[in-house]
Amino acid sequence: MSSNTPLSTKNSVNPLKGDAFLDKALRPLVWEEYIGQKNIKDNLKILLGAAKGRNHPPEHLLFYGPPGLGKTTLAYLIASELGAQIKATSGPAIEKVGDLASIITNLEPGDVLFIDEIHRLNKMIEEVLYPAMEQGSLNIIIGKGPGARVIQLELPPFTLIAATTRIALLSSPLRSRFSGGTHRLEFYSEPEIGEIIKRSAKILNIEIEDGAVTEIAKRSRFTPRTANHLLKRARDYAEVANLPLNQETVTKALTLLGIDALGLSGADRAVLEIIANKFKGGPVGLSTVATAMSEEEATVEEVYEPYLIQCGFIERTPRGRVLTDQGYEHLGQKIPTNRQNKLI
Ligand code: ADE
Repeated sequence: MSSNTPLSTKNSVNPLKGDAFLDKALRPLVWEEYIGQKNIKDNLKILLGAAKGRNHPPEHLLFYGPPGLGKTTLAYLIASELGAQIKATSGPAIEKVGDLASIITNLEPGDVLFIDEIHRLNKMIEEVLYPAMEQGSLNIIIGKGPGARVIQLELPPFTLIAATTRIALLSSPLRSRFSGGTHRLEFYSEPEIGEIIKRSAKILNIEIEDGAVTEIAKRSRFTPRTANHLLKRARDYAEVANLPLNQETVTKALTLLGIDALGLSGADRAVLEIIANKFKGGPVGLSTVATAMSEEEATVEEVYEPYLIQCGFIERTPRGRVLTDQGYEHLGQKIPTNRQNKLI
């Protein structure tokens, strides 16, 4: 029997509550229910099929891409398709070599080990991971100085699935060890997001009109996690206001949340406004934008920018971020005629 167990390390979460519980209920556990990412799915089905044929766990996998596109969902689905246990942890939760040693020595044959945010694993821990990934062994140093000894522990065969929003921060020795494949998750199409919303509404017993599905899809940033969150917020609004969940209700609910027609939040628009109003459309460095927003650089780069770039509102140039003509139009501002940074 398969079970999906988060590891009970000191940094892992308590039993899932509220939205987190619902998010888990919405995770597809078979390929037929996983919508979109066709190329990745086709490749993974072959990898898993071949591994099952050989009766050996698939080789290690790395998923990367913006948050909310389903990296964790894929890891859970793979474990479910393999009938394997999944043990989940994250880069920042593994603070010491001993934390990793305790996790991997407790794996059972065929387990999937999921490490989220692998880019936040420290270098010393990364080096312990290499032989575990390559030769299935763990080298532990006992003692210090001249008397130190290395003990080699044999590990059961397992599959590491790692996820990151920041592939560029992974060292090349680490990247090269994901011999099962490295896959970049893409933004979904609007019809795919529509299908995901309909599936989620069915699971959550939400009665929803087609117009509402389309309106949520349009504002979902082509991202399933956002789509599911907006569906739940629109459902709350409809329930409290005693309204049917149609296009008009969704528009009211999401406008109240500050989410505009293209799914931009107040923070997304702040990025555009800062570049437009404080820096004359750019180019302006990432760190300057982040400081002006009182946000961390990584948040601006990983959370806000990917969708703004996807929308064609900003561009990353060697001299910094630049607001495009479409960016000005979305803000309802006139495009400056003599832009010194005119995009070529
Ligand atoms: N939930 C998150 N990602 C999904 C996907 N690709 N298909 C169905 N449900 C999802």
